[in-house]
Amino acid sequence: MGLLIRNGTVVTAEKSFAADILVEGETIKEIRAGIAAATAHKTLDATGMLLLPGGIDAHTHLDMPFGGTTSSDDFETGTRAAAIGGTTSIVDFAIQGRGTKMRDALDTWWKKAQNKACIDYGLHMIVTDLGGAGLEDMDEMVKEGVASFKLFMAYPNVLMVDDATIFKALKQTSKNGALICMHAENGSVIDVIVQQALADGKTAPVYHALTRPTIAEAEAVNRAIALAEIAHAPVYIVHLSSEAALNQVREARSRGVPAFAETCPQYLLLSIDELKRPGFEGAKYVFTPPLREKENLPKLWDGLKDDNLQVVSTDHCPFCFEDQKVLGKDDFTKIPNGGPGIENRLHLLHHHGVNEGKITLNRFVEIVSTAPARIFGMYPKKGTLAAGSDADIVVWDPKAEHTISAKTHNMRVDYSMFEGFRVRGNARQVFSRGEQIVENGKYLGKAGRGSYLRRTARGGAWA
Ligand code: URP
Ligand code: ZN
Ligand code: ZN
Repeated sequence: MGLLIRNGTVVTAEKSFAADILVEGETIKEIRAGIAAATAHKTLDATGMLLLPGGIDAHTHLDMPFGGTTSSDDFETGTRAAAIGGTTSIVDFAIQGRGTKMRDALDTWWKKAQNKACIDYGLHMIVTDLGGAGLEDMDEMVKEGVASFKLFMAYPNVLMVDDATIFKALKQTSKNGALICMHAENGSVIDVIVQQALADGKTAPVYHALTRPTIAEAEAVNRAIALAEIAHAPVYIVHLSSEAALNQVREARSRGVPAFAETCPQYLLLSIDELKRPGFEGAKYVFTPPLREKENLPKLWDGLKDDNLQVVSTDHCPFCFEDQKVLGKDDFTKIPNGGPGIENRLHLLHHHGVNEGKITLNRFVEIVSTAPARIFGMYPKKGTLAAGSDADIVVWDPKAEHTISAKTHNMRVDYSMFEGFRVRGNARQVFSRGEQIVENGKYLGKAGRGSYLRRTARGGAWA
C-alpha cells in the first residue's frame, strides 16, 4: 500500500501523457491511467497538474569558502529553498586544498551536508593539485561516487591549474570513466587586463565584466575541448555564458566530439547592464563568467533548443549584499564572486522557456532533470518518472503565478537577482523518495533527511 497521485499529466523528456503514479516506499511502483484507489493508503488528486521528475541542480556552492568569506546558504537553508522550488537533488562542489588530499575535502563536505541536507546531494571534486598521488586519488573518489571533477582555467594563484594538470586529469577520466567539468576562461590573460584596470583606477563592479571578454571564454572552451580530444575523454563546460563560447561547443559537437555544456538562468535572462546599476548595486551581479551583452541571450536559448547546451544549472553561490559583497566596495576584484538562484531555476525556465514558446515542456524536463541525471551518473534512479525510479516527483501547477522577491524567497541572502520577475508555474507538492517535503511553498521535511548520492562513472557511454 502506498501513495497514489491521480489524474495528473506525466511529463518526461520524451512524452507527456495522462496517468496516475503509484508510489511504494521510496520508489515509483507503477505509472498508468486508471490505477485503482484501493491499491493505496493515501491519494492525491492532481487534476490540472503536471507531474515532473524532481529537478536536479548539478552546480551549487553551499557553505563554500571564497574570497575571505563563505557562501551564505549552508546545506540546510540552500537545499530547503531548492526543494520549495521543485529541485530534489543537487550536485555540490567539494574543494581539494592545494597540497592536501581529495579524501580530506570529501570528508569535510560530507560533514557540511550531514544533518543538514533536505534533499539528496552528490559531490563533484574541485581538483587544485595533482601532485603526489593525485591521479590515484581521483580513482578513489570515483569509487566513493564522485563521478566528476571540476578544474579551473581561471582564478590564478587560487584555483587555476595549468594545461598539463588539465591534460593529466582528462587522461585519468578516459580510464576511470568520470567526467571533467571545466571552468573555461583564460585566467592568465584576464589577470593582466584586471591589473591594468586597477592601475587605471577602474574599481567599480562593472569592471568585473569589462575585464573578462567573451573571447577569453571562447579561447578556454576551445582549449579545453582540444585537450579532451587529445586525451580521448569527454568534457563538460560549466556555466557557459556567451555566443562565442557556445560556437566552440557547437563546432566540436558537429564533429562528433563528446563535449557538453550547461548554462544558467542568469546568462539566459540578464545582461551586463545589471552591473551598471547606480552606486555599488552592480555587485549583486558579480559572478564568473560575467553577464554579457544582451545579444548573447537569444543565442544561448538557441543552444538549448538545438542541444548544443544540454543542462541549465544555477551555479548558486550566494553572498549577502550588505555584509559580504561590500568587501569589494573600493575594488571590484574583492567582491565575492557568485549569485543566488537555487530556488528559482524551474520557475524561470518554465516561464521564460515554456510559456514564452522557446522550449517545449519535454525539453524543459530534459534540461532541468533528465540530462543532468544522465550526464552525472544518476539515471534512471533520478531524472525521470518510471517504475523503479526514486519517487522524486514535483506536482507542478502550470497556472500558479508569483513574483520572485527577496522579501518572500527562502534562500538565506538579502537580495534576488530576479527581483520583481513575474512567473507562471510553481511547485504545489514536492516528493523526495516518496516523502512529501513541500506543500505550497512550505517545507515539511526534516533537515538532514537528504542522502548522499553515490554516482556512477559513465565510462565510454557518451552517445
Ligand atoms: O562566480 C562564481 N561562479 N562563483 C562560484 C565559483 C565558480 O566559478 O563556479
Ligand atoms: Zn566556475
Ligand atoms: Zn560554480
